[in-house]
Amino acid sequence: MRFDVVSIFPEYLAPLELSLIGKARTDGLLELAVHDLRAYTTDRHRTVDDTPYGGGAGMVMKPEPWAQALTEIAAATPAGPGGRRPTLIVPSPAGEVFTQKLAYELAEEEHLVFAAGRYEGIDERVLDWAAEQYTVRPISLGDYVLNGGEVAVLAMVEAIARLVPGVVGNPESLIEESHADGLLEYPVYTKPSTWRDRAVPEVLLSGNHGKIAKFRKEHQLRRTAARRPDLLERLDVANFSKTDRNVLWDLGYAVVDGRAVLRGDDRAEND
Ligand code: ADE
Repeated sequence: MRFDVVSIFPEYLAPLELSLIGKARTDGLLELAVHDLRAYTTDRHRTVDDTPYGGGAGMVMKPEPWAQALTEIAAATPAGPGGRRPTLIVPSPAGEVFTQKLAYELAEEEHLVFAAGRYEGIDERVLDWAAEQYTVRPISLGDYVLNGGEVAVLAMVEAIARLVPGVVGNPESLIEESHADGLLEYPVYTKPSTWRDRAVPEVLLSGNHGKIAKFRKEHQLRRTAARRPDLLERLDVANFSKTDRNVLWDLGYAVVDGRAVLRGDDRAEND
């Protein structure tokens, strides 16, 4: 899989040389290149921004350097026969929200190009024009505003690249982690079995795999209900076991039409 990142702060992306992503690059599992947007300017001052039409605070990124960078990147990596066009990801608080589901979807692509903007954003016409060569996707990390797209690129590249086969040594760890099954991950413990008067839950020392699995699922449900009830309410629980349904009931939820519904909600009252 190939990643290209365009930014006016290429050094910001240096962490992508470290850890699992860095190793996957050296092992040839991932190709990743970072491009300095200013290298695609033509004026003496290497200008990348200008004042916004219509007025208002801040500066807007000029279209020409982006067009030059995106044209060169697309030309350097032509899609093979029947190959898909590259996806252009534009980090923006005005984009669709990045989720684990989207990370899985993007991990199926051959080539992702990230346009890390700064200031008030990139001239909108660039996104429109780029759609001739790319599948363009403005994506937000969440409902807050960063100073630029670089941090969002770091997060997205890491979340996507670790789903590429071989990048994470033990693929089992992808199955059990938070969000993999729509629930948050269960709590984890290591030695010593008692630390500062706090004992590890007894069942985890029992060696009884059935009981351990039950304990973990219960705690996934408890944690999700406490911290992210929105996830629980979106989950398909039609195939939940009697035990899981009992946990949901304890947490105040009934199962109605395959969904967990808070008891007291009108839909649960008719159940
Ligand atoms: N750039 C600024 N804020 C952002 C956000 N929330 N997500 C992605 N890119 C951004």
